[in-house]
Amino acid sequence: MNAIREGDPQAAVAGAALPHDSAHLHVCGAATYIDDIAELRGTLYAAIGTSERAHARIVSIDLSAARSAPGVVCVIAAADIPGKNDCGPVIADDPIFATDHVQYFGQSIFAVAARSVDEARRAAKLARIEYDDLPALLTAPEAVAANSFVLPTERMRRGDAAAAIAGAPRRLRGRLAIGGQDQFYLEGHIAYAMPREDNTMLVHSSTQHPGEVQHQVAHALGVASKDVVVECRRMGGGFGGKESQPALFACVAALLARATGKAVKLRLDRDDDMTITGKRHDFVTDYDVGFDAQGRILGISFVLAGRCGYSADLSGSINDRAMFHSDNCYYLENVDIVSYRCKTNTVSNTAFRGFGGPQGMMGIEYVIDEIARQLDLDPLAVRKANFYGKTERNVTHYQQTLEDNCIEEIVAELEVSSDYAKRRAAIREWNRTSPILKRGIALTPVKFGISFTATHLNQAGALVHIYKDGTVLLNHGGTEMGQGLFIKVAQVVAEELQLDIGAIRITGSDTSKVPNASPTAASAGTDINGKAAQLAARTLKERLIAFAAEHFGVDAAQVGFLRNRVRIGDRTLPFKELVNLAFVARVSLSATGFYKTPKIHYDRKTFTGRPFFYFAYGAAVSEVVIDTLTGENRMLRVDILHDVGKSLNPAVDMGQIEGGFIQGVGWLTTEELCWNAQGRLTTHAPSTYKIPVASDVPPRFHVRMLERSSNVEDTVHRSKAVGEPPLMLGISVFHALKDAIASTVDYVVSPQLDAPATPERVLHSVVQVRQRVAAQSTPATAMGAPA
Ligand code: MTE
Ligand code: HPA
Ligand code: MOS
Repeated sequence: MNAIREGDPQAAVAGAALPHDSAHLHVCGAATYIDDIAELRGTLYAAIGTSERAHARIVSIDLSAARSAPGVVCVIAAADIPGKNDCGPVIADDPIFATDHVQYFGQSIFAVAARSVDEARRAAKLARIEYDDLPALLTAPEAVAANSFVLPTERMRRGDAAAAIAGAPRRLRGRLAIGGQDQFYLEGHIAYAMPREDNTMLVHSSTQHPGEVQHQVAHALGVASKDVVVECRRMGGGFGGKESQPALFACVAALLARATGKAVKLRLDRDDDMTITGKRHDFVTDYDVGFDAQGRILGISFVLAGRCGYSADLSGSINDRAMFHSDNCYYLENVDIVSYRCKTNTVSNTAFRGFGGPQGMMGIEYVIDEIARQLDLDPLAVRKANFYGKTERNVTHYQQTLEDNCIEEIVAELEVSSDYAKRRAAIREWNRTSPILKRGIALTPVKFGISFTATHLNQAGALVHIYKDGTVLLNHGGTEMGQGLFIKVAQVVAEELQLDIGAIRITGSDTSKVPNASPTAASAGTDINGKAAQLAARTLKERLIAFAAEHFGVDAAQVGFLRNRVRIGDRTLPFKELVNLAFVARVSLSATGFYKTPKIHYDRKTFTGRPFFYFAYGAAVSEVVIDTLTGENRMLRVDILHDVGKSLNPAVDMGQIEGGFIQGVGWLTTEELCWNAQGRLTTHAPSTYKIPVASDVPPRFHVRMLERSSNVEDTVHRSKAVGEPPLMLGISVFHALKDAIASTVDYVVSPQLDAPATPERVLHSVVQVRQRVAAQSTPATAMGAPA
């Protein structure tokens, strides 16, 4: 924590380690989440009736028992939707209510509004639905075999991968299964719809994308966007799970509110939330790689099969991002990446921190580890041999030139500060004399592209008011999900106007203040909303300067903003006095700001261009220990060095690095999603789905931000996005586990290990490597082969 600078009232506000603006409210339970909003009189509570089949034709729906159940006020299904029966974010394949056919276990079919939550939930179980079962595809490989895709297959290529692989001195082929992950935000999906006069509607939605919820609710109600307002003060976590999928719940609440004329709240319990909503895409990745004796990759092909579930949702961009990150930090001269967007009869998978990037990165990191074990080299040496260069070998497979590559410096610094080489040798020595417990270590790097790959989303708006007393109200299109966006943007505005942070009132996201805002996602929240707010503040500042110059008869160059004061010629005035004078002189004290990310362009047909404004880099060294009798494991020590450019708020950024890393570790170790043969999710509560908790934090956890860093691009105060990139530092833990497993056979064969590396999988992998080594050392005849 040494890199954090303490808050100092004299110091700049931008760059100060200020606490999260709601920290005091979070810790004493006074932060208002949607379920805490004081309820309107007559509020009704909703529940959704869902499919109990993975894939079936609906023969009949009888809702009479639900309608007559105690407390029930209204029951609606598809035929009751005045507008469009769809809430798909990109293409219209997400019905609000299924009609003639259900496509996953948990799909919404109808909804109930009742006088209590309990009555609504009981009634939602009373439908009599007759199904005619259809064959269900549950996994990505099944979908590939059946040619079942939500979107067309895509391919990114450079050079001649097949020829390079065939001509390489060494070759490896294999398959890696990478599990999905539930977002497990602490606040589940919730929407509270309030009908207002003249057919208008206010919806409080826990959403990363209020503008999209507004549009979807308007479509469902058959009204215009101007007639719907969506607000979100904060989410209790989103993690991508609230980028597109809040729309369903907002639409259902609004439809019931319209039907009853009452306010309607729909809050999912955890089981329903996990069953109904999408998760990180699980992938099955096939690789074929040719390399030389130093482990340098000469040619590589990947086939990525991402399980999208029953509809497209955001799967196009997510699978694109997996392809964009299949290089991670490595120059792949001859590369061929095929991406299948598998349509299955499971929940529609969606955004999750990293947005496909982690899955793409896992593929190449696994391959590098395999190459190193094949050659008996330190995996770190193979990583370094394949790093992108700075002036050559510096163009990605999608033709973007790296202009900010600092991965070699980060890894070199971390290697020293973590004492990697010495510890690796010591671990190998320790393993020799430890028969049951085995240790492993791995260093993995991260390079993550910053910008929405859908270029048009890289825009933001802000609205800033200055009141007569010199205080400021700040609003922008971003949403707060705990990541600290609001405090960072407030710091930018405070810095611009040279005010104390306490002079700024942060307000919730509201579609009536900033229209058509992009989702808060792709880690770009601060980059784009911070710039928009800075521009709005700058406009106000320029107006005040022009006014002061005229009013006091000085040159504009003689007006300067000091902390809470303004210097005008040789006098200084409190900020609020100048504001008051400006008000009396009828100067507008409200301004908008608009920003669009420059330089980016990209042709989705050829997958070439500059999809990313810049890259965020980091690296982690993880040391683990496994119990070879049970597969149980834990982290012993983790060292992280991560680049946040010039941090806008080191306290917030540190939290993002630590939290992101731990969430990545959860993805690759304990968080396992299981579906039964009927396609029903069986891990739908914390009793069966294990996210990391405080006691899982490694006892030695050394997290540092790269010092004296900046951003080569003109981002807000030269900071770098930090929300998603650290998640992928968790990949080091997976590879440390693989290293520990390899030690059980003295590193002579490479373990096969799928993700998540649960204790069961670790144990299985240990048994497997031992069997393989035993088979190698036994004469073929003894193995039962024909003599
Ligand atoms: N941090 C917290 N505490 N809660 C969250 O839901 N979401 C992550 C990341 N960090 C999340 C979080 C995801 S998926 C993204 S894209 C970014 O925050 C979004 O916010 P930003 O763009 O402001 O970084
Ligand atoms: N990241 C996150 N969300 C998105 C993206 C992206 O690249 N593109 C569209 N939505
Ligand atoms: Mo984050 S997955 O881009 O919401």
